[in-house]
Amino acid sequence: MFDFKPEAGADPTELYRQLVDAADALTSDEPDGVANMANVASLLWEFLPDLNWAGFYRVAPAKKGDADELVLGPFVGRPACIRIPIGGGVCGAAAASGKTQRVEDVHAFPGHIACDAASQSELVVPVVRDGQVIAVIDLDSPKSARFVEADAAGVEALAALLSNRI
Ligand code: SME
Repeated sequence: MFDFKPEAGADPTELYRQLVDAADALTSDEPDGVANMANVASLLWEFLPDLNWAGFYRVAPAKKGDADELVLGPFVGRPACIRIPIGGGVCGAAAASGKTQRVEDVHAFPGHIACDAASQSELVVPVVRDGQVIAVIDLDSPKSARFVEADAAGVEALAALLSNRI
C-alpha cells in the first residue's frame, strides 16, 4: 500500500519537495508512462488544496494530417476536452512557448478553454525532453489567483523529474 500524504503545516517549498520525492519514489522503477502520469495526477490531487482538475495533456498526432496537438492524458477531475490545438488555450500556449503559464483569472486569458465552469485560475507547466515539449501538466482551481510563484517552481521541478518517465 502507498500512503503518500503531505505533512501538516508544510510551507509551499517543503510541500513541493515532499510531492516531488513521492513522485520520484512512485515512478523511478516504472517504465510505463501512462501508469506514471496516473499516479502523479493522483499525487497532485492529494497534496495540493483547492484544485478542481489535475492532470496531463500529451503532445500527440492529430486525428487527421501531420500536425501534433495536445491529447488528454491521465487526470483527476471532471471529464475534460480531449484535443487542444498547440497554441490554443492556456495548455496550448504552454506547449507552443515551452513556458509555464500561471493565470490568475482564466476569464481574462484570451482563448481560455473552459472544460469546467468552476475553474477560475490555472497553472500549466510544459514537460520537456531533448528540447521538445512532450506534454503539459495542467492544474485548475475554483479559487481565483490560487497559484503563486512557489507553485510554478514546484510543478516545474516535478516536470523536470518526469521528463524521461512519461
Ligand atoms: N483550460 C485549459 C483546458 C484544459 S482544462 O482546464 C482541463 C486551457 O485553456 O487550455
